[in-house]
Amino acid sequence: MRHPVPASSSSPMMSMPRMGRDDVIKGTDDDAIISKLQVSAVDLGYLDDPFVKHFVKRPSRRPPLINRGSYLRTRSLDALTEQFIRGTLGLSTKTVSPPSTLSAATSSSTSSSSPAPPTPADATPLVSPIRKQIVSLGCGSDTRYFKFKSEGLSAHKYFEIDFQESTAKKAAVIKKNKAFTDIIADPELKLGLGGTELYAKDYCLLSGDLREFVDVIVPKLKAHGFDTSIPTLFLSECVLIYIQPSDSDAVVDWVGNNMMASLFVVYEQINPTDAFGAMMLRNLKARRIELPGIHAYPSLVSQQERFMSRGWLAAKAVDMNDLLASLSDVEMKRISSLEIFDEVEEWQLLAQHYCVAWAFQVKAQSENERERLVDFFYSSVST
Ligand SMILES: C[S@@+](CC[C@H](N)C(=O)[O-])C[C@H]1O[C@@H](n2cnc3c(N)ncnc32)[C@H](O)[C@@H]1O
Repeated sequence: MRHPVPASSSSPMMSMPRMGRDDVIKGTDDDAIISKLQVSAVDLGYLDDPFVKHFVKRPSRRPPLINRGSYLRTRSLDALTEQFIRGTLGLSTKTVSPPSTLSAATSSSTSSSSPAPPTPADATPLVSPIRKQIVSLGCGSDTRYFKFKSEGLSAHKYFEIDFQESTAKKAAVIKKNKAFTDIIADPELKLGLGGTELYAKDYCLLSGDLREFVDVIVPKLKAHGFDTSIPTLFLSECVLIYIQPSDSDAVVDWVGNNMMASLFVVYEQINPTDAFGAMMLRNLKARRIELPGIHAYPSLVSQQERFMSRGWLAAKAVDMNDLLASLSDVEMKRISSLEIFDEVEEWQLLAQHYCVAWAFQVKAQSENERERLVDFFYSSVST
């Protein structure tokens, strides 16, 4: 059996001598974005994202196995983000069925947090638009804000956070490129902190270390209009696993305790101790990449418990086999036609080692508001 490197293949940065651990972690973004280019419309047609190409200097071919993984990763986080952006607050409760693939969530014992029953036939919810925020933790070169806004979908504010070196590179690409500035569409768009940050009306690219989330990042977010009282989606796409569990727990705790209504979505590796998992860690270690978080949250159950044990209202984790199985026949046929895929057994193993987890927390003032927000979040995670 071949030994795939699931995250993606090696990056040129990896061969640089004497790099610090943080430099190696910053380099993981190069892999992520090259993989996304490979699966994008420009190359293979799994996904449609015209913005990715601007961040890739040296495209390189990825195996079908990796392409399928990158496609499912992006597609599932895109779907959750889209549903969050589109979601409205019904004025009546119990109008939303619990989700299917990402459903059957573990939930706390309070009545409003248990999966809502199917919509009563006569429930005609009055809906109200809601101001929402998105915070992308360790955003790297991710282009989700631009892709969605180009399709007419945007939140009140979209914050992106990464190490200063990474945000400086991203800010430079965005600021000089009309494809991006046209989407931001803010004449007051400006660079800050020596070109390492970008500020616009609905978009902020901020620099910082997630290990200093509470003391440094949160005050910075607040200084740029972050509002703890509106529903907020936190995205951690292959990020929290790179920091120590005590530091990632501090992020999850702060969000759960301080936001009025939050949805947290995590994509990361699991199952480090079986043969494939051990090989995955060895391959990463050979590239000096460590995953300090993987042993704290090594399974689908522990990914859910990460949130439930901290008092979140509901949580669910699924692996990539579940995500693939949730594709419609038409979509499965479409992606199967894009390239020859004969690594079925390897895929199943690989797919058991990557998960998408979501959790939500609501600390609304009134019971009515709380129920409406719970329904809103269930509709955000339904598939
Ligand atoms: C594998 S990349 C993923 C990038 C992006 N989320 C995506 O999926 O395309 C991991 C990102 O997390 C960032 N990161 C890791 N640890 C971080 C920390 N302590 N503070 C800020 N950013 C961090 C890295 O710089 C890198 O951009």
